[in-house]
Amino acid sequence: MDKKRVVSGMRPSGKLHLGHLVGALENWRRLQASHQCFFFVADWHAMTSEYADPSSIREFSREIVIDWLSVGIDPERATLFLQSRIPEHAELHLLLSMITPLSWLERNPTYKEQLQEVTTRDLSTYGFLGYPVLQAADILIYRANYVPVGVDQLPHIELTREIARRFNSLYGEILVIPEGMLTAFPKVPGVDGRKMSKSYQNYILLSDSPEEVRAKVRPMVTDPARARRTDPGDPERCPVFDLHRIFTPEGKHRDLIEGCRTAGIGCLDCKEVLLEHLLAATADAYRRRSELSREPGRIEEILEEGSRRAREEASRTLARIKEAMRI
Ligand code: TRP
Ligand code: SF4
Repeated sequence: MDKKRVVSGMRPSGKLHLGHLVGALENWRRLQASHQCFFFVADWHAMTSEYADPSSIREFSREIVIDWLSVGIDPERATLFLQSRIPEHAELHLLLSMITPLSWLERNPTYKEQLQEVTTRDLSTYGFLGYPVLQAADILIYRANYVPVGVDQLPHIELTREIARRFNSLYGEILVIPEGMLTAFPKVPGVDGRKMSKSYQNYILLSDSPEEVRAKVRPMVTDPARARRTDPGDPERCPVFDLHRIFTPEGKHRDLIEGCRTAGIGCLDCKEVLLEHLLAATADAYRRRSELSREPGRIEEILEEGSRRAREEASRTLARIKEAMRI
């Protein structure tokens, strides 16, 4: 019962890939054993940028939960829910907005960057400026100790801490000051050698079938110096080897390096070894996914139970907050 509490969320912006597995989900999976975890789909956060055409948010939200379950996020251990089913987040967002200086939001680096870079949507809205206040509400309403996120999210965690401190100094020590939790993880290259990302279309999805994974790995780019089978290569310059580092047991690396440098093995042989280990990770997810698809009501059941638990916790914190604010 005295386990520390963890809160994290993901925006539903499409199917998850191996980058999400290595960068976030493996960490979530570890944390659910040692911490009290609340993991949620940030569908209101998706709305801040997709408001003009929100038609995919519902479908993506469902898919992302299936992705989580497929890699072993366990609803018996972690509380899984949709943000939009917990109206207390919105109420706390409103209350926190009263005490959040505009200047804190306007100087938020993510905000400034996105306003400049995103040209396909109009982000000059009140909701988009307030994105970090909503995020602060998500975190503070569960009295989280830790928030596992990527580096890009650290400014938002810092803002959350500032808002919580300001709240506590105005109304009394009610809110827990959370800490961002960064875990070191290797960068996952996509099949073209660039960082695996939705925008590059170079990803291997958690939902890809074994055949699809094979079809993506076989033509992967390798060290350009190995134009012919007889040319020696350099694993340091090959994205296939970066994937070996992540998915192939370390004991096998030496032979692969040696084989590559001496042209003892071909790139296709090397990729077959990778596939063997990569498929061990993704085929499991694929199997769990097909099991889930045979239980059509299961996702809804999990989300209902998760929302119930989350709501209980959220309304308890909100009551204390309102008491402290005398409202
Ligand atoms: N802003 C986060 C992202 O884009 C998603 C998010 C919303 C979140 N609320 C959160 C993450 C609360 C951690 C805690 O990735
Ligand atoms: Fe890359 Fe393996 Fe080919 Fe070497 S043998 S270039 S590590 S795919």
